[in-house]
Amino acid sequence: MKREFSVENFREQFPILHKPLKNGKRLVYLDNSATTQKPQCVIDRIVEFYSQYNSNVHRGMYEFSERATGEYESARLKVANYFGVKNPDEIVFVSGATDAINLVAYGYGRKFLAPGDEVLIGAAEHHANYLPWQVLEREIGIVRKIIPLDGNGDIDMEAYENLFSSRTKLVAIQHIGNVIGAVNDIKNLAKIAHANGAKILVDGACSMASGKVNLSDVDCDFFACSGHKGFAPTGSGFLFGKYELLSEMSPHRTGGNAVIRVTFQETTFKPPPAKFEAGTQNISAVIGLGEAVAFLDGVDWESARRHMATLADHCREGLRSIGGITTYGAPKNQTCLFSFNLNGVHAHDVATYLGNSGIAVRAGTHCAQPLMQILGVPGTVRISMGLYNTIGEIDVAIDTIENCRRAFIGN
Ligand code: ALA
Repeated sequence: MKREFSVENFREQFPILHKPLKNGKRLVYLDNSATTQKPQCVIDRIVEFYSQYNSNVHRGMYEFSERATGEYESARLKVANYFGVKNPDEIVFVSGATDAINLVAYGYGRKFLAPGDEVLIGAAEHHANYLPWQVLEREIGIVRKIIPLDGNGDIDMEAYENLFSSRTKLVAIQHIGNVIGAVNDIKNLAKIAHANGAKILVDGACSMASGKVNLSDVDCDFFACSGHKGFAPTGSGFLFGKYELLSEMSPHRTGGNAVIRVTFQETTFKPPPAKFEAGTQNISAVIGLGEAVAFLDGVDWESARRHMATLADHCREGLRSIGGITTYGAPKNQTCLFSFNLNGVHAHDVATYLGNSGIAVRAGTHCAQPLMQILGVPGTVRISMGLYNTIGEIDVAIDTIENCRRAFIGN
C-alpha cells in the first residue's frame, strides 16, 4: 500500500524549489504546463548515465553499451506498465508530444488519408495538434472539421457526434487543455470515434503529471505524451500506437538502426518501435523518462489528486476575490490550471510583475492562437499548478495579482 500523498515530502525531492532567486525571493513555480521541475532521482539518473556508462544503444558489443541498451529498453517497459500498455513494442520514444503528433500525421496520415477524408480536431488544441493537419490539408486535400466548445470551454458533445460522416477517418483531440484546463473524457471520445469507424489520436502532452492514464482502458489508437511536463527530462516523450497501426505506418524519418537490410536499391525496415527510432536517440532523456515514471508510480494518486483539487479550488476562489479580473472557461472537470486577464492590463505586464516577485507564470497565446480567437483576446495570463505547489504559494500569487491590479489600475 502506498503512503498518503504529502506535499511537504514531495517538494523535498525537487532541489530547484529550494534555490533562492537573485533577488533573494523564493521561487513560486506556477508554470508547470510549460514544463515541470525535475526530482533529484531523475537528475541523478542523467548524471549517472553520462558519468558511468555513456554510449550508444543497440550498437555496441561492450559493457557500457550493453548497460545503456538495457536501461533504454527498461524505460520502455516502465512506460508501458505505467500507462497500462500490454505490449511495450507499442511505445515509440520521441522528443515529445509535438514529435509524436507529427509522426502520426506524416507516418499514418500521408499513407492512409485520401482527398476528402475528414479529420475532426478540437477547438482548444495546441498548435502542435493543428499544424500537421493543415499541412495534410494542403498536401493531400483532407478536410479539417473543428469540434466546437460549449460556453464553459467543454467539448460540445452533441456537436461532436454530429460532425461524423462516412468520410471521417480520424479524431485529433487533447486530453487536458493547456489554456482552459478542461480534462476531456477521452474514453468516451474514443468510443464515439470508433462507433463511427474513425481512429482517434489523443494529445496527452499534459497528462503525465496529472495522474495515471490507463491506455488499455481508454482504448485510443494513438496517444502522444511529453515527458518534460511530467517530471521527466526535456527531449523525452513517447507515442503509443496500436501495434497493427504502427506496423502498417511508414517511418517519416529514416536512418540508422531502424533497418534490417539496406541495398543500393531498397531498404527493409525493422518492426515497430525500432523503425520509428532512426538515428541516435536522446538516450539519457529516455532513461530519465523511465525514472520519472517509476517516481510517479510511487505516488498515491488518490490522495495526490485530492491535493490537486484542493489547489484548484483555492486558486479559483482566490481569483474570484480579485476585482476587475476575467477568467476563461469553467469546464466540468478542470485540472489545476487557470487563464485570466486583469481588465485593462496587458497579460505580459501582469506576468512581468509576477516574475519580478518571484512567481513564474506564462502569458501570451500559449501556442493556441485559434482558441484565443474564440475567447476574443490577444492572450491570457496562465497559472498552471503542479503536485509540489502549496496553498501558501497560491496565497502569495493571489496577493501579488491583487497588488499588480492596484499598481496598474488603482484601488
Ligand atoms: N505547450 C507548452 C505550454 O503550454 C509549452 O506552455
